Amino acid sequence: MTNKTEGALKKRVLSGIQPTGEVHLGNYLGALRQWVDMQQEYDCFYSIVDQHAILGSGDPTTLPGRTVEMAISLLSVGLDPEKCTIFVQSDVPEHIELSWLLNVIAPVGDLERMTQYKDKSARYDSIPAGLLNYPILQAADILIYRAEAVPVGEDQKQHLELTRDIARKWNARYGDLFPIPEAIVPNTGRIKGLDGNKKMSKSLDNTVGVFFEEEEVWSAIRTAVTDPQRIRKDDPGRPEVCNVFTLHRLLGNQEKIGDIEKQCVTGSRGCVDCKRILSGDVASQFAPFRERAEHYRSDLDQVKGLLEAGRDKARKIASVTLEEVRQRMGLDWRSIL
Ligand code: TRP
Ligand code: SF4
Repeated sequence: MTNKTEGALKKRVLSGIQPTGEVHLGNYLGALRQWVDMQQEYDCFYSIVDQHAILGSGDPTTLPGRTVEMAISLLSVGLDPEKCTIFVQSDVPEHIELSWLLNVIAPVGDLERMTQYKDKSARYDSIPAGLLNYPILQAADILIYRAEAVPVGEDQKQHLELTRDIARKWNARYGDLFPIPEAIVPNTGRIKGLDGNKKMSKSLDNTVGVFFEEEEVWSAIRTAVTDPQRIRKDDPGRPEVCNVFTLHRLLGNQEKIGDIEKQCVTGSRGCVDCKRILSGDVASQFAPFRERAEHYRSDLDQVKGLLEAGRDKARKIASVTLEEVRQRMGLDWRSIL
């Protein structure tokens, strides 16, 4: 369903991010940069999914702080509350109600086949039901706004497929209501950690936080793994296997990338130099984020106000969808009296 906004028909987008606290280079390049770009063209809803986060070994005493910190991160990297709707999942209880209503039609067999479920459930002696049902809440997050597009990382494609199946099944049984949402996966590929690990994450300490000072950026990037076969400074390098090069490509301008590539393959620039350039680029792209974060940290009332305005906008739409769903599922006994 399209939505009229300022005379233009904008497609609606929803995405969610776990409240991990501060955002890092991998989140930024792999997801948030795209969220920022999409605000122009789409009617975007961005949710900090605290109800998903309580499934992990998350510490309840730090969750509120991580949620607020995530809000500050989102605002600081360029999400503009004038252009998009930012809200906390648990502030919009309609998600949970829809999630139960979708539980009624989502097949257990499909849930058990989810890769993420299989990986995570192996870590438990007693698997919480919520782990199995996690993708149903995710489907509700999306469908409650009748979103048509969902920017997600590679790892969430399977959950999106399931959301599409649930939407189709529901529509077939109760009549067309939900658009079948499309996954928009950035073409960044998987972003490896600076240490070469296949995942970049704060807990692995192999990334750059978006609020790092210049020296912290350098001390993280200085140690980054490059082409392992390049031992001496003038050995020719292989940019195609080098993670530093991938990061240059994702961050940098096109002309510069040609030079970096040439100097690498001819062995005319050493890796340390090459990393210095990357570090400088990261620091300069992140500098405005740090400034904005300082502003929000000194005015937490404003952050609260923005999240509450986001909640109100989100609930307005979510409650309309939910009302329609309840009625079509026969949960409106008053209508016959
Ligand atoms: N499961 C997603 C993740 O871990 C987060 C998420 C929750 C989400 N609800 C969503 C992503 C809805 C996209 C749409 O990254
Ligand atoms: Fe990687 Fe740069 Fe070293 Fe080439 S010069 S191997 S691109 S760090």
